Amino acid sequence: MEIKNTIVGDHVRLRPLTEADMVLKVTWYNDAAVRKTLVVDEHFEQEKTMAWFRTLADNDARADFLVESLDGVPIGVTGLIDIDRKNKTAQCYCVIGEKAYWGQGLGTEIHSILFQWGFETLGIEKIWAHIRTNNPAIFRVVEKLGFQIEGTLRQDKIVDGQRIDLYHIGLLRQEFIPAHTRYELSSVSD
Ligand SMILES: CC(C)(COP(=O)(O)OP(=O)(O)OC[C@H]1O[C@@H](n2cnc3c(N)ncnc32)[C@H](O)[C@@H]1OP(=O)(O)O)[C@@H](O)C(=O)NCCC(=O)NCCS
Repeated sequence: MEIKNTIVGDHVRLRPLTEADMVLKVTWYNDAAVRKTLVVDEHFEQEKTMAWFRTLADNDARADFLVESLDGVPIGVTGLIDIDRKNKTAQCYCVIGEKAYWGQGLGTEIHSILFQWGFETLGIEKIWAHIRTNNPAIFRVVEKLGFQIEGTLRQDKIVDGQRIDLYHIGLLRQEFIPAHTRYELSSVSD
């Protein structure tokens, strides 16, 4: 989807993802410590990932962002995908690839400003995700923002040769508990 805004919080901003960002995305998604809590099984390759990114140009069902610190350091990726206009739902994802930035409240801030944008700008009414049951950090983040567990998908995927369980979690717009952070939109050209 063509994104017209950069979303600004107290410590991070979310700006539209570009093809050049695929270099970092590949590095982050191939980092063993990062992918330990992700539902990804494949090794990421630069050329394939760039080609994949180019297929997204006309894809209206996703909004992908690079996460930067306010002083311009790229730290991760986030976005809404599977955007369903009829049912007003979307799936969310967030990966902070720079591990030095974990545990400082940024995951909470990133999700909060992304959701505020999704609810207000896209008119989404429900956000959902599948999270691994071995990921206490994301579990705590989504709990703080008001998500509920809607079910357990038992042994649902094979990752690194192991069958893994996932929680299906959901957040209704009226249940959303925003984080205590600034939320501003600025034009992408700012
Ligand atoms: C998951 C992730 C987004 C969380 O971001 P973050 O910036 O580290 O999260 P925050 O600092 O905002 O909040 C983490 C919360 O989890 C808690 N937490 C972290 N590790 C924990 C653990 N092992 N056990 C219990 N709680 C834990 C923290 O104390 C904090 O809660 P608090 O605010 O009540 O103190 C980030 O670690 C990440 O990108 N990890 C790798 C990829 C990934 O797993 N992405 C999500 C896939 S669904």
